[in-house]
Amino acid sequence: MIILITGSSRGIGRYLAEHYLSQGHIVFGCSRSTINNYHKNYSHTPLDVADEKAVKKLFSSIRKKHHKLDVLINNAGIASMNHLLLTPVKTLEKIMQTNFTGTFLFCREAAKLMKKANTGRIVNFTTVAKPLNLEGEAIYAASKAAVESLTKISAKEFAPLGITVNAIGPTPIDTDLIKNVPEMKMQQLIAKQAIAKKGSFEDVSNVIDFYIKPQSQFITGQILYLGGI
Ligand SMILES: NC(=O)c1ccc[n+]([C@@H]2O[C@H](COP(=O)([O-])OP(=O)(O)OC[C@H]3O[C@@H](n4cnc5c(N)ncnc54)[C@H](OP(=O)(O)O)[C@@H]3O)[C@@H](O)[C@H]2O)c1
Repeated sequence: MIILITGSSRGIGRYLAEHYLSQGHIVFGCSRSTINNYHKNYSHTPLDVADEKAVKKLFSSIRKKHHKLDVLINNAGIASMNHLLLTPVKTLEKIMQTNFTGTFLFCREAAKLMKKANTGRIVNFTTVAKPLNLEGEAIYAASKAAVESLTKISAKEFAPLGITVNAIGPTPIDTDLIKNVPEMKMQQLIAKQAIAKKGSFEDVSNVIDFYIKPQSQFITGQILYLGGI
């Protein structure tokens, strides 16, 4: 399959790239940073996911090379922990641009390419911080609430095109994204889960494997949270 993963330089996205490359798939990745000569079936494009021109250029190169895209994994994301009173508007703009505008642009451009084959799978990323309404994460959770609405509505709009759109909501998983969250806050968050522990990269790929397998063509518009939230 031809698989596009955003935010593939580190963390969950990097793991997912390795996971699908090890199964023999062709993987396109992107992030603001550059990656060189990583794997023969991997191409990396340095871009900001909210840069419409750069995103369109990436899709044009996939179309020219392979004439199709089977799977889009909208993983790129940023977070910030702040009380509302201490949140500058610049922080809000950056989080919304990366998490929401980026996801929107990739969904739209992927659907244009996928509809030609009348099949495709899109997986978006939300977080348990959204249903838990965590204090200090208002802007991050709101950006993911927007991603959830986009997921549910695009699932309806893209269904006639043969494209499914679903989302995964991870619990905390050890990556750069959460390394500055104080340990006490982390323990309080984890205690709210039915299964009170951090998640793993494999917990994420397990859900995505399910969403993208051919037998899941009747699964769309779903949000699956890890850990029993
Ligand atoms: N880890 C967790 O605990 C957790 C929990 C719930 C949900 N999530 C979600 O899981 C996803 C992945 O998170 P992670 O933990 O793997 O984060 P991470 O380790 O911080 O990695 C984020 C990735 O996104 C890329 N990225 C960030 N901003 C970008 C931009 N504007 N344009 C292009 N690429 C950008 C980063 O690369 P560059 O810096 O090189 O651009 C990096 O590859 C996110 O959507 C996050 O919200 C994570």
